[in-house]
Amino acid sequence: MKSAKYSSEPITAAVVGLGSIGMGLDYDTTDSGVILTHCGALQKHSGFKLVGGVDPDSQKRAQFEKKFRCEAFPDLASMFSKKIEPDLIVLSVPTKSHAQEFRKILTSGHLPKILLCEKPLAENFADSKAMIELAESKGVTIAVNFVRRFEPGVKKVRDLLSHDVIGGLQKGLVWYSKGLLNNGSHFIDLLHFWLGSAAEIEICGLGHSSNRFGEDPDPDFLVRFGNSLTPIYFLSACEKHFSMREVELIGEKGAIYYRRGGMEIIHHSVEFSSLFQGYQFLGDEGKKIQTELARVQWFVFEHIFKHLKSGEALPSTGRTALAAMEVVEKVKNQWKQQEQLHHSQQQTHRKALQN
Ligand SMILES: NC(=O)c1ccc[n+]([C@@H]2O[C@H](COP(=O)([O-])OP(=O)(O)OC[C@H]3O[C@@H](n4cnc5c(N)ncnc54)[C@H](O)[C@@H]3O)[C@@H](O)[C@H]2O)c1
Repeated sequence: MKSAKYSSEPITAAVVGLGSIGMGLDYDTTDSGVILTHCGALQKHSGFKLVGGVDPDSQKRAQFEKKFRCEAFPDLASMFSKKIEPDLIVLSVPTKSHAQEFRKILTSGHLPKILLCEKPLAENFADSKAMIELAESKGVTIAVNFVRRFEPGVKKVRDLLSHDVIGGLQKGLVWYSKGLLNNGSHFIDLLHFWLGSAAEIEICGLGHSSNRFGEDPDPDFLVRFGNSLTPIYFLSACEKHFSMREVELIGEKGAIYYRRGGMEIIHHSVEFSSLFQGYQFLGDEGKKIQTELARVQWFVFEHIFKHLKSGEALPSTGRTALAAMEVVEKVKNQWKQQEQLHHSQQQTHRKALQN
């Protein structure tokens, strides 16, 4: 996993937020093929040098210093006051603090060359838009950690779709859990990447309040994507039972199944049945498309490295992530209206029963 082609100075990097995605998920793994966190990936990618970590939690700071052998600070101001001024800052604090910490980074006096912000950009569209406009006004490049856009298997699917390998798309289905903003946004963004921009949103089901991830609703909804306005149905599953992250795309000549969050991707072509004369079905076997999801975070930094060293375009930017936020906001607004209507209908119904 070395980038032998480039031999210049490493890119200096700091991680702000040393929680699950910042440092925790692969902290204890001994499998070098598993790279799921920012700190883990930055340590393993030879093009980068970790120069600092930031977290108000002293235990996290101690863990960081022990493994990564560089200083951790309780807040950004303390890091900057020590003249640690990284080329890359990774922002992986809880979503509710993204807008505030993002602004602090961009108004601190030290501007990084690039800021990698966790997804979703913020809790709502207005904050997200203000963040991206601020970054643009300061000339700082924004990458957003919608990890699938960086993963080779996902890119392969995009190639297959653009070469019409499964024919004209009929419909698609997404199963998501753990909230529209938190996880639905991953798949809205992925469908943008595969099919193009979104239009015509419809709510199909209100979701379950007991299933809700904090304030984040989990409606079932339909979005039409791309020039051909392909209908993609998003269905929410209950995270407390198990996590679901699945996509099915059904075309005229085959189908693509993106399973278990992307740990398995299968392309099935249509074949004539050897049993039922004249019938055509999806082939039993299917072709596996290689996926690198287990070390996806390495690919994120590989793209950032190539962007900084040779100007290669980033697949996930502030603007692409803002487009996903716009869809999330529209779905949420429609859901709110329908939920209010549903409540008032229920109240009317209850009153009618009491009279
Ligand atoms: N891209 C992905 O696939 C993916 C996966 C998981 C999480 N995420 C996103 O990453 C973000 C963090 O999620 P998580 O699961 O790691 O959360 P977490 O709660 O495990 O970690 C957040 C960390 O940030 C620290 N923190 C809080 N406020 C801070 C501040 N002002 N400055 C510095 N550190 C601060 C906390 O102490 C904690 O250690 C969320 O936005 C989430 O949506 C993305």
